[in-house]
Formats: sequence, structure tokens, C-alpha cells
Amino acid sequence: MTLEAMSPTSFRATLFSVLLVVLLAGGCRSDQGESSSSVQSSPATASATQQEVPPEEPSDSVLQRLERELSAAYPVDAPEPTSTREFELRAAPGTTQQFDGRLLDVWAYNGQVPGPVLRVRLGEEVVVRLQNDLPQPTTIHWHGVRVPNAMDGVPGVTQDPIPPGGSFTYRFVPKDAGTFWFHPHVRGAEQVERGLYGVLIVDDAETLPYSRDEVWVLDDWRLGSDGQVDPRFVTRHDLAHDGRWGQRVTVNGDAAQQLTVRPGERIRLRLVNTSNGRVYRPDFGSLEPRVIAVDGMYTARPLPLDGFELAPGNRLDLDIAIPADGSGRSYAITDRFTRRPFTLATIRVDGEPVSTPTFEAPSNPNVPGWDGAIERPVDVTYVLNAQRGGEHGIQWTINGRPWGEHEVTELEGGRWVRVRFQNDSARLHPMHIHGQFFKVIARNGQPVDAPYFRDTVLLRGRETIDVGMVPIDWGRWMMHCHILEHAESGMMTEVRVGE
Ligand code: C2O
Ligand code: CU
Repeated sequence: MTLEAMSPTSFRATLFSVLLVVLLAGGCRSDQGESSSSVQSSPATASATQQEVPPEEPSDSVLQRLERELSAAYPVDAPEPTSTREFELRAAPGTTQQFDGRLLDVWAYNGQVPGPVLRVRLGEEVVVRLQNDLPQPTTIHWHGVRVPNAMDGVPGVTQDPIPPGGSFTYRFVPKDAGTFWFHPHVRGAEQVERGLYGVLIVDDAETLPYSRDEVWVLDDWRLGSDGQVDPRFVTRHDLAHDGRWGQRVTVNGDAAQQLTVRPGERIRLRLVNTSNGRVYRPDFGSLEPRVIAVDGMYTARPLPLDGFELAPGNRLDLDIAIPADGSGRSYAITDRFTRRPFTLATIRVDGEPVSTPTFEAPSNPNVPGWDGAIERPVDVTYVLNAQRGGEHGIQWTINGRPWGEHEVTELEGGRWVRVRFQNDSARLHPMHIHGQFFKVIARNGQPVDAPYFRDTVLLRGRETIDVGMVPIDWGRWMMHCHILEHAESGMMTEVRVGE
């Protein structure tokens, strides 16, 4: 933060600057718990000793191996479609029963918040006709889906915004089975907060024998004193913090979501975080779920949930076995991200036991190990920080530039790259890349073994995260913070994948 430009005559500006410095430096913590309470020392540089160097693999062949490992993990092309699934979505203002059944004015897809769950099978073509009956232009972005670039829903980059009264048809064949979601990419901080989001599930080509497959959409709401969505969006407070955090948290629109299951059931539970800024760390207590997918993609093997965090944009698929003798029990699912844990939802066990389906949990054994990736140099660095200026008073920047003044990153398709996110601020930034998956390889310089891909990774204050990726989907893709207020005030850039 440079404050030289500050005018000494403007008392308000002075006061604001002081506040801003305090806030950006993390001096005024709200309820984000440990989000940046641990002061990170500078990354420890692993000192490579001269002795015991293993026989060297020539560096091109290391790269070729990293690329080969990726090519086994997921396909370049979509399957040849066998059939088409058509959906109609109408985005419009409306009223829904939210929280405890109270009426809330929202903007919704087909009058529902969360919007409809669109369910298709791998191998089907998806056709979605969107009718915009909002008072603003809109688009739909298919978060995490490797769509053809023109279907990615980014105004001014891949399509024109759809004006009020207009419509647009999205058409694509998903390449991956998993849990995805969709939301507008125009004024997201307002449109998503008002209720525009839905889930897209791509089922595996063959059905898995879970007793039950459920979706929990996690969102929070900042309400004004009239009990309605507070219409002040992208405030300076939101910008100086981790975006807009609401005081009401809902699961599937319900503040007291209860899922009733039978003893012995084995359930697949898909968690989706559609909040503008809030991060969740769900604790299932003695249910001990296993993580089978992160951001839609199967993990290399089932993993313990162990404090896994769900930042805005993230999805987590859980495999949960309900004890056969559990009848009459209730399990509180607790969020532990903030200092004040609260109950997100309850799983209640009731009725006659069923026999537990036994089958191997789905996994992707071809998630690359990428041994040696940590020795590769950093190819692209994104420094994350804020500065004063712009229409909101604070701009969040990538490499010192807000969206509009950004520098496009050109990546060669099919080539492995090491990308570094370096958070020079004290705030949280869940960084998301459209149309690509990546794998975390280091945190603050220390190697990380994460046996799964992501499309969004959470950076804590002053943290540096390195990811490896092989872009195989061509086109112009957004890279941005998924705290929608940060994105709206500049924290976006473009990645071009080509020849
Ligand atoms: Cu869900 Cu551009 O993001
Ligand atoms: Cu951010």
C-alpha cells in the first residue's frame, strides 16, 4: 500500500486510509478466526545439499513425464454425445421461503433458491436456454466444467452480456463426471448474493450403488434491518475484509437443514460453497466421512475429511456410512472455520436398518504424483494485493494491476507449468482458474502431497502456494479471486491457452 498520494486536506480520506491500512494488515479481525492469525515467516528455502544427488533425469524428460502423467488423469476431448438433455432457466426477481420459512425477496433461477439441480450423465450433451428477466444484464458461468471456450459465460471475453429481456443458449458436452455449479459472471457480488446459483451434477457413465445421493448448497446472507438482502454491495468494509460475510447461513436455503436417513445407509453427500466470501470447515463428528472428490474430480484415493476447508467456489463429495445401530441418533454438522462454531445442518437417523452397500469408493488412481515437480522453476507468478483507487475506493490487484489493466498470461497447451500465487495481503483469496484443473505442489516453499486436483485454492494472509498444471483446454479463461467483492474490484486476469 502506498499512501503518498494522500491529500492532507481531506480528513475523510485520511481517516479512511488509516482504517484501510489497519484492515488490510489484518489489525481488525471480524469473525474469520484463524484466517490470518498465524503470522507466516518468510518461506523456508529448502537448502539443497551437494551430497547424495540422485542420478539426474534430463529436464525435458522430467517435463515430458509430468505431462504424460496428466494425460492419463482426464481426457482432452469430450465423449461423442449419445443424447441431449435440455433445460430452461429463467433468471428473474421473485420471492422464496428462506431460513425458517420467512419470505425473502431474491433473484432466482426458475423461482428457486438454490436454483435447480441440473443432472446429466457423462456422455450426454447439455443444452440450457437462459431467459434473462432480471433488471440487469447477466450470463451463466459453468464453474469447474471444461466447456468449449465460447460457452464459458464471461462477458466481454467469451460472449456479450445477455440484456434484460434477452436469452442465450449454452451447449456443451461435459468431459468429466462430478459436482459442478453455475452462477452469473456479471456483477457476481450482487447477482450471486441475491440468489442466482445452481448445481450441475454430471453422473458417471455407470451408476454407483450409494443408498442416497444428496446435495447441500452452503450460502450465507447479509440481511438489513428489514430482514431483506442488504442492497449495499461491494462496500469498502467488504473490500477491506474477506468480502461479504452474512449473518445467516443456510444449507439448501434452510437455516436448520435436516437430512433424515436410515441406519446402515451409505450416502454420497455433495457440498457446494456458493457464498460470496465465507469459508466453511465442516466437522461431521463421529460420522467420519471420507472425501472422494474435490472440486468435482475424484481424489486418488478416499481421504479423511480432517479439517478440509470449503472456500467460495469449492465442492467436496463425501462418502458417509451411517452406523447400522444408529436409529434414533442425530448428528450435528458443525462449522469450525470461525472462532464461533455453529451447527450447519443435522443428519437424523430414523427407521428400520438397511443393508449397507459394499463397493469400492470411486477414485482416480491416475491423479499424478508429479514427483520432482517441486524442483522445477516457477513459470508464472501472481502477486495478490490491494491499493487505493477505482470506483469502489479499494482495488484488489494481481501483479499490481486491476482487471482492465491486467496483463494476459499466454500458456502453451499441453505444457506443464508451475504457477505461483503469492499473497502479499493479510486477507483470504480463493483463487480460481476457469476451464482448467491444477494440483497444489507447495505451500510457503514446503512440498505438499495433495492427491487431488482443484479449480479453486484458498490462500491465507501472506501465504504462497505453488500449483502445477497442464492446460489442455484451449481459449481465453478467467483467473480470479472467488471472493466476489475482490473479483469485482479488480482481482481478475486472463489466461490464454493456445498453440
Ligand atoms: Cu465460479 Cu469465474 O467463477
Ligand atoms: Cu480475494
